[in-house]
Amino acid sequence: MINVRNHFPALNRLHNGQPVAYFDSPGGTQVPRMVGEAMTRYLYEHNANTHWAYPTSAETDAIIASARAACVRFFGASEREIVFGNNMTTLTFHLSRALGRTWSAGDEVIATELDHHANVAPWRALEVDRGVVVRSARMIPETGQLDFDHLAQLIGPRTRLLAVGGASNAIGTINDLGRVRDLAREAGALFFVDAVHLAPHERLDVRALGCDFLACSSYKFYGPHAGILFARGELLESLPFPKLAPAPDKGPERAETGTQNQEGIAGIEATIRFLESLDWPALHDEGSRFAARLWNGLSSIRGVRLYGPPPGQPRTPTVSFTLDGFTGEEVSRALAERALFVSHGDFYAQTVVERLGVEALVRVGCACYTSMEEIERLLDAVSELSGI
Ligand SMILES: Cc1ncc(COP(=O)(O)O)c(C=O)c1O
Repeated sequence: MINVRNHFPALNRLHNGQPVAYFDSPGGTQVPRMVGEAMTRYLYEHNANTHWAYPTSAETDAIIASARAACVRFFGASEREIVFGNNMTTLTFHLSRALGRTWSAGDEVIATELDHHANVAPWRALEVDRGVVVRSARMIPETGQLDFDHLAQLIGPRTRLLAVGGASNAIGTINDLGRVRDLAREAGALFFVDAVHLAPHERLDVRALGCDFLACSSYKFYGPHAGILFARGELLESLPFPKLAPAPDKGPERAETGTQNQEGIAGIEATIRFLESLDWPALHDEGSRFAARLWNGLSSIRGVRLYGPPPGQPRTPTVSFTLDGFTGEEVSRALAERALFVSHGDFYAQTVVERLGVEALVRVGCACYTSMEEIERLLDAVSELSGI
């Protein structure tokens, strides 16, 4: 692997005279040059609407087909199982409306307290629209892990769907999706994975996961602001997605509404090529080292409290903490002064923050372009802030 950092023009940015360290990847990653170039190339050389008889339109059709084929390859899906859309939230709302049309009042969906609101609100909307009941499996606050006993207890004869995040964007917990799949299968329920925070950190194979649906967003893994939904072929072909009459009845396009973000889709193809060029086992090891250094370094600073699973447990290199005497925003602003870009808040994972009993977390996320030197800078800055 050539030095991965060379791919990212954003790393040349200075702030207050220092190179910017982007620790905000769980909110959105930086973009490699090849992705930006593919999007620009599309707009400058191939820009057209689809399905017409002139070259730029045919090229647009080919670019979309090739991006779909790249996703098929990358997620281990089959042809006709990949849907593009604005983002994970919009795609999940669309899917929930389609599924809701097949359910009746009293049918149940189970989500979890670890989930981002985007994997809660689309199902909750069905409570109002269809009388569907949404239950929430508990998070164990001490470990930041899913309470599988509680999840199992919630499953009943009316359970239609288990909707579970692959990893928590707030505290980095990786959920045992194999266990969730087994519970879903036993219950005869469908299995939806919110893979937005997992996809940047683990190679995903939808067949190995055994999921019926998986949604993610390419801007969380070095791509443009566009969403991707995998839906198992027979479901994608048969679910009653709301659609306009002229939209096709067959193929993934039946779940896509209106004109797509075509430059974004061109960018997705380049993003997948970039992801395929990465040395995933090496990145994985590096991520574990980063998480351990962050965890151990932060825990030795007075006033720092850490949340979520410790290193060694299944987790992403996303480490969240609070600093006594400071709000999340104060920590985040002070670090930004030192060109260390971290995020603060509840990250739309309100139930995580509520269960942890904190107002706001400070979140440090590592990506493929993170370096140990940046982590040391961050640890020094937090130490300085805490008065040590
Ligand atoms: C775990 C998780 N799920 C869902 C979402 C929503 O994704 P999108 O912005 O693509 O709708 C996010 C965004 O931060 C997330 O982190």
